[in-house]
Amino acid sequence: MKSVTAYANTNIAFIKYWGKLQGEKNLARNLPAVGSLSMTLDDIGTTTTVEENDRDAFMLNGETLSGEPADKVFRFIDRVCSEVSAKRAPVRVISTNSVPTAAGLASSASAFCALALAATRAFGAELSPAALSGLARQGSASAARSVFGGFAELPASVGGEEVLAAQVLDENGWDVRLVVAKTTTKEKAVHSRQGMQHTAATSTYYPAWIADWRRDFDTGRKALLARDLTTLGEAMEHSTLAMHATTLAARPPFAYWNGATIDCMHAVWALRQSGTQAYFTADAGPHVKVLCAPADVEKVRAALTAVPGVLATLTHKPGTGARLL
Ligand code: DP6
Repeated sequence: MKSVTAYANTNIAFIKYWGKLQGEKNLARNLPAVGSLSMTLDDIGTTTTVEENDRDAFMLNGETLSGEPADKVFRFIDRVCSEVSAKRAPVRVISTNSVPTAAGLASSASAFCALALAATRAFGAELSPAALSGLARQGSASAARSVFGGFAELPASVGGEEVLAAQVLDENGWDVRLVVAKTTTKEKAVHSRQGMQHTAATSTYYPAWIADWRRDFDTGRKALLARDLTTLGEAMEHSTLAMHATTLAARPPFAYWNGATIDCMHAVWALRQSGTQAYFTADAGPHVKVLCAPADVEKVRAALTAVPGVLATLTHKPGTGARLL
């Protein structure tokens, strides 16, 4: 077995994946119930090495982890081996994450994508990007999109069929920026997997979400291909707010937002009122990500920085797809 290192950037969904096909078989394959559309970010992601060891071990950012986070990685290695028909040998997995883990900045997207690439190669297999995305999806559905640079889509699985991510535009296809406003340093209380399953099981609004997501997806996809920031931005905000509404109507309810999250949304709406094209999204955490043209980055950063509770802002361009190091 070879020692292989891979890198994947994280990605942020414009049109949100939120919900899985239910049933034991479908859940085991982690099939999304809705389609999603994302931008891969530059210079924020995960570097992972997979190599042979005398027993399974997982190190993240220099610390050896045990329990569920490590077991999730080892189960994924089992899956890789069965997918590529390799003999399962014990491995050491060493990951370094430049994405804050589990704080709603999509750390599982880059983590499972880099792991899928490093592990398949370490076990001697070479998958096409599409097939790699199918494998990464089984670790975390958002990870399927990180295989590709630029902008990617992951379709919904309607009848339990396999779904693979695909590139919509490459990293040079549209020059936009995503400004991330960090509003906490804490780990999130409800992980996305737990949150989407809880809303699917209990939220009054989940059926409406499932009935309506395709409108934003189709509009967003067309607008992305047309490089139409206004139309894409409006579809993105609707997809974001509809997703978060499912959490508010769950029993018991929960919210990923803090006060600064909401103040950032108002700041973005105020920017638009004064003529700046800026649109927000938020994931399973309280950070706010704002899509805008490169020329408007400074205005957007200034508006977000002025919001009490915003700790820092970071600006990202469309980034490249996963690669071997
Ligand atoms: C809100 O991909 O983390 O970021 O498939 O259960 O691992 P699992 O979920 P995950 O969910 C991401 C949810 C989201 C929206 C998105 O990235 O599309």
